[in-house]
Amino acid sequence: MTTEPIREDLAAIPRYVPGKALPQALKLSSNEVPYGPLPGVAEAIADAAANAHRYPDMGVTRLRDELAARLGVGAERIATGTGSVALIGHLLQAVASPGSEVVYSWRSFEAYPIAATVAGMKSVQVPNTADHRHDVEAMIAAVGPDTRALIVCSPNNPTGPSVTAAELDRIFAAVPESVLVVIDEAYREFVNDPSLPDGVERYGDRPNAVVFRTFSKAWGLAGLRIGYMVARADVADAVRRCVIPFAVNGPGQAAALAALEAEDEMRRRAALVTSERKRVVMAARDLVPEVPQTQANFFWLPLGERAVEFAAHCEERGILVRPFAGDGVRVTIGLPEENDALLEALRDWR
Ligand SMILES: Cc1ncc(COP(=O)(O)O)c(C=O)c1O
Repeated sequence: MTTEPIREDLAAIPRYVPGKALPQALKLSSNEVPYGPLPGVAEAIADAAANAHRYPDMGVTRLRDELAARLGVGAERIATGTGSVALIGHLLQAVASPGSEVVYSWRSFEAYPIAATVAGMKSVQVPNTADHRHDVEAMIAAVGPDTRALIVCSPNNPTGPSVTAAELDRIFAAVPESVLVVIDEAYREFVNDPSLPDGVERYGDRPNAVVFRTFSKAWGLAGLRIGYMVARADVADAVRRCVIPFAVNGPGQAAALAALEAEDEMRRRAALVTSERKRVVMAARDLVPEVPQTQANFFWLPLGERAVEFAAHCEERGILVRPFAGDGVRVTIGLPEENDALLEALRDWR
């Protein structure tokens, strides 16, 4: 059977697997926060709905200005898109050329191989260390003449650990400036180890630094699809050229602005998550001692060949987690009673 005119390489792309959702089930599969939208967000969306017949501000001006002021960078250095997942794809489209490569750790965020292939780039996957961290020296060694970007996922989805300042310093020192160092900080707001670097603060002035953030996680706007990146002005401009016109819609822009107004509440909620994280990871380690440390709103159960079986066991109990066959299970930190149900399921299973 011929599939012409479809590109052959697309057939090899692993499909993005969304965290499962079933009515009534406890959803610990998508790294969302469990508290609902931040105060003021639903009202801002409702107000914006009155303009649903108009195209949104294509430049996302107010939101970019607000982010720029908060981050201490010029708005021309910010690009927005329909989730950071879309922007990662646009960045790779902006740097791709025949034979070009992108280096990233593996296992990491499942969208990277998809974005790379769609952009026409070759993925160079560098296995994580035995403790589920990026192998920074091996990543540096994997950079070659065709490398256009190296992605650091910190904290790493789905395993949890962050990349340290010393490690990132080392990467910036070792790779040529022609290689973009992409720091994906989707879970930055849950990082509570003060020694860990803030990508924008520490590396924002490097010409080859690109930092991705999202409103989907701690800011509670996963359903509205808004992410942003901070980079050198010409890199941000190149990415904006690749973004679909009017990508971030009006209610999304309004909601993101309202969410920023509620930053104190976001921080309060993130602290609830991180205190639960500490409790849950300690309890999980009693049963699975190899659970790595995590700075995100999820943790990793390295169950190897039993990953799918554990996810099925959880599903029988009405709990949805995210298995990666043959490797492990990612579990989102939820409300205390939800986490207790998960721990109970783990105890029953072992
Ligand atoms: C590491 C990482 N980066 C980016 C994203 C994308 O988030 P969004 O497209 O919702 O902004 C995710 C979502 O799961 C993620 O885990």
